[in-house]
Amino acid sequence: MSSREKIFKLLEEHYKEELETPEFIPGKTPVPVSGKFTDVEDLKYLIDASLDFWLTEGRFTDDFENGFSEFLGIKHVAPVNSGSSANLLAFSALTSDKYKDRKINKGDEVITVASGFPTTVNPIIQNGCVPVFVDCELETYNINTESMKEALSEKTKAVMIAHTLGNPFDLGEVTKFCEDNDLWLIEDSCDALGAEYNSQYVGTFGKFGTFSFYPAHHITMGEGGAVITQKKSDFKVLESFRDWGRDCWCAPGKNDTCGRRYDWQLGNLPYAYDHKYIYSHIGYNLKLTDMQSAVGVSQLKKLNTFIEKRRFNWKYLYDGLKDLEDYFYLPRATKNSNPSWFGFALTVKDTAGFSRAEIIEFLDQRLIASRFLFGGNLLWQPAYQNIQHREVGSLRNSDTVALSTFWLGVFPGLDTKMLDYIIESIHEFIKQK
Ligand SMILES: Cc1ncc(COP(=O)(O)O)c(C=O)c1O
Repeated sequence: MSSREKIFKLLEEHYKEELETPEFIPGKTPVPVSGKFTDVEDLKYLIDASLDFWLTEGRFTDDFENGFSEFLGIKHVAPVNSGSSANLLAFSALTSDKYKDRKINKGDEVITVASGFPTTVNPIIQNGCVPVFVDCELETYNINTESMKEALSEKTKAVMIAHTLGNPFDLGEVTKFCEDNDLWLIEDSCDALGAEYNSQYVGTFGKFGTFSFYPAHHITMGEGGAVITQKKSDFKVLESFRDWGRDCWCAPGKNDTCGRRYDWQLGNLPYAYDHKYIYSHIGYNLKLTDMQSAVGVSQLKKLNTFIEKRRFNWKYLYDGLKDLEDYFYLPRATKNSNPSWFGFALTVKDTAGFSRAEIIEFLDQRLIASRFLFGGNLLWQPAYQNIQHREVGSLRNSDTVALSTFWLGVFPGLDTKMLDYIIESIHEFIKQK
């Protein structure tokens, strides 16, 4: 037995001793809203990559790129170190001169929604552009497409929005709007891996699709993310911005992939300047490590079952809570979609006779975790008080989200005993009111 095999064997013992999930006891064991759903195989992959001691992107990253592109049926995958980095990378790429008159310039407007996660919007601001905020719909928590149309101006260059909680936004309306008006679409699919619209995976409709592999997400690497795209020329721009802005596209440890390493003349550099050190963009370093990729490769094998479990759990909660429509706006899948749920959102109605604070405190005492819908109305957040922006129409629903919406977990770590306990607890709370 090789030393590697001996280590793997020991890992099985270690996993049993320290990492196996304890049996669920209602009221005693916490019911998390999300979390990593991992097994000893994931740990083996992580250790396998560590034993290679390659550390930066390597063979597992290649495997992840291939596996992820095969799953989504997309040509190119640029792995990065988080979903936020994926958003920053996707947006920044569109500021490249390579896009000529369609490139995004400082001062250009980008349509987005006010309710959501901050790093869907931040790259717009970080690149000196102007976010134009429109409202969401209750129940789907996705963009109100009528307001989106009203938001168009001569300065609009792109739409950058998320598929909220795994529920696709109206891709029919949004892609048509973008095509009709020559706008880029960046689909933040961080919470929606595996969600489909008209049987096509989200993330594959726009110029770029972004994903997160933080533990709350459909698959995890601990920290990690990816940008996907169909065109090789777009992929090269992504790689450049991700890898310090360089013009060269050699993988770590490789040289002369282009076959003319000392045969370029770019900018004001002298002819034959090493291509490895020629920079065509003001870039970042957003790469991940091979240990992260290794966990991703292992998790990817289970993605289909994870998605099905999320759908099952969402439906189970829906069936158990659908009699409570007098108290809550229940969540609803977007038309023509098959969501890959991230969470089960409830909005307390004004007429419910109780507040969101009361119900989440009740659940908290029963060790049932819940979450707000991220930043609520981002324009109420301290960080956004002085940003240059436009608001279009009323943001009434975003205000409601900030005041009255919360979501419950549907991740594969929740079993029906836990879901029954959530359903019973919510009914118990309402009975007491
Ligand atoms: C919609 C959305 N976009 C982006 C992100 C950022 O992902 P990460 O935490 O990997 O940076 C999140 C985080 O959960 C998210 O919910």
